[in-house]
Amino acid sequence: CGIVGYIGKQVAIPILVDGLKKLEYRGYDSAGVAVLDCEKIVVSKSVGKLVALEEELGQAYSQSCIGIGHTRWATHGRPSQVNAHPHCDCKQDFVVVHNGIIENYLELKDMLIEKGHKFASETDTEVLAHLLEDYYEGDFEGAVRKVLKTIRGSYAMVVLRRLDPNKLVAARKDSPMVVGLGDGEFFVASDITAILNYTRKVYILDDGEMVVITEDGVKVSDFEGNSRTKEVYDVKWDAVAAEKGGYEHFMLKEIHEQPKALKDTMLGRLEEDKVILQEVDLTLEELAQINKVYIVACGTAWHAGLVGKTLIERWAHLPVEVDIASEFRYRSPLVDKHTLVVVVSQSGETADTLAALREAKNRGARVVAVTNVVGSTVSREAHDVIFTWAGPEIAVASTKAYTTQLEGMVLLGLYLAQVKGTLPTEKIGEIITALKRIPAQVQELLDQAGLIEELAKSFAKVENTFFIGRSLDWAVAMEGSLKLKEISYIHAEAYAAGELKHGTLALITENTPVIALATQRDVYEKTISNVKEVKARDAKVIGLTYAGNTSMAKSVDHVIYIPETMDELSPILTVIPLQLLSYYVSVARGCDVDKPRNLAKSVTVE
Ligand code: G6P
Repeated sequence: CGIVGYIGKQVAIPILVDGLKKLEYRGYDSAGVAVLDCEKIVVSKSVGKLVALEEELGQAYSQSCIGIGHTRWATHGRPSQVNAHPHCDCKQDFVVVHNGIIENYLELKDMLIEKGHKFASETDTEVLAHLLEDYYEGDFEGAVRKVLKTIRGSYAMVVLRRLDPNKLVAARKDSPMVVGLGDGEFFVASDITAILNYTRKVYILDDGEMVVITEDGVKVSDFEGNSRTKEVYDVKWDAVAAEKGGYEHFMLKEIHEQPKALKDTMLGRLEEDKVILQEVDLTLEELAQINKVYIVACGTAWHAGLVGKTLIERWAHLPVEVDIASEFRYRSPLVDKHTLVVVVSQSGETADTLAALREAKNRGARVVAVTNVVGSTVSREAHDVIFTWAGPEIAVASTKAYTTQLEGMVLLGLYLAQVKGTLPTEKIGEIITALKRIPAQVQELLDQAGLIEELAKSFAKVENTFFIGRSLDWAVAMEGSLKLKEISYIHAEAYAAGELKHGTLALITENTPVIALATQRDVYEKTISNVKEVKARDAKVIGLTYAGNTSMAKSVDHVIYIPETMDELSPILTVIPLQLLSYYVSVARGCDVDKPRNLAKSVTVE
């Protein structure tokens, strides 16, 4: 989603709409603005692209000089006019825009309903406005602070109060926010790009900071109210770079967004030794009726499914088949009411996946979707939905959607095991502890991007390459090879390491570099035997293995170390260097990284 706020001497609405246009790429299912006009909050919202909001506002809009705006990428509650931001409390005293997820909104909502509050929308955001109304005792900032202490989750929010016509209050935690410093006017936004037309001087807020903006200036404090001094940051980016958060391509931006996307996707879903999947409602009785799982998807999402298979089989002791959606429906799959079908789709609109979902439903299966888009067709038609909270993915080559899909597979695998009782509670707790460390470990790998960039140089002239691995490493090898193919146009093949010798080894020469994934301890020695087979044919080998394993360096030309985790979670980490490698190879070859030839982000034809 995107946020903009304005306070100054100019008419707010055109500035807000202009800012929202710059943010439209971050969320575009609905939009809205709110201004203060003669002690009244005036809200305008519309579904769809921003032009719809512009039409709704028409020419005769309010001339107020203070307001907030939002363009939405739906999380809680599907795209609709009532779910669009800004949101008000019952008395229309407070109005709020918010990015992120309020983890404990359901319990807060229940508490507020008990007190007589009436909710208009299905969003988590609306809870903020009602809480403010409930907490307000003559002190606007005090009420906001109290709200910040009550809520859990990630957020960037801006609030207006009807009877405080010269004040914007904003806060951030785990969701970006900047304050733009103009001449007698101020801006607040989720991204610098929204305000670049007006100022290049900004404060970049840190987590746990709150800001009070009046026409006279900006006061930054922590959530306790202790004031903080901020440095003015002078933005040097041009508008195009700003849209990409300063990165050269959307793909690189999205690769770097993975720690946050992974954190968001686990938000509210993990207790110490328990997974909470409110969206999936499978009872033990229902699950006892299930004797088989099918995971159906296309492209990168299918690769996530391949990992899901191992996790569900290992943890929940259910047999799993993974199928390509365009194959599944044409071969009369053995699916009935005893089958659980899991469809995985970033967009939730892929025609083949959708057709497979319908086929599965027709055959009586229970369908769980793992998707990134609230309100998408897949999310509406499936019986249960696990949303990945990766935010909009713009680059055609999927990165953050994939790793959050992997996380979705972990959550689903654990959930099924928990309901069936096939994993001891301590083991679930162990996996959860390890999962919580993953975002920081992804960051560790991203911090080494420079090394991968160096390595990528030797790939620029390559025409053929192999990715090999066993078990979960093989599944990740497939995703690594797809990334390289789609954005650098190098022919890359993923092969089960043990199967190479049955024919394909004939293709290995000194001109076919091999990327060998060896993170799975139970098959490590076997994989190394296969690495030796390719080394014996003079292939250059880059190895990926877990940190602390010094033995691989003896068998390969270069080793990339993957931070220590459980083997089952390793795919989320192992793919990171592979994404970076593809990215830098694509750049080195001068390819169109974000829009590779012949490909589309969402394929709505069969
Ligand atoms: C297209 C995209 C792929 C994606 C696949 C499935 O081919 O280019 O990156 O993996 O569709 O898309 P979905 O939205 O269903 O995950």
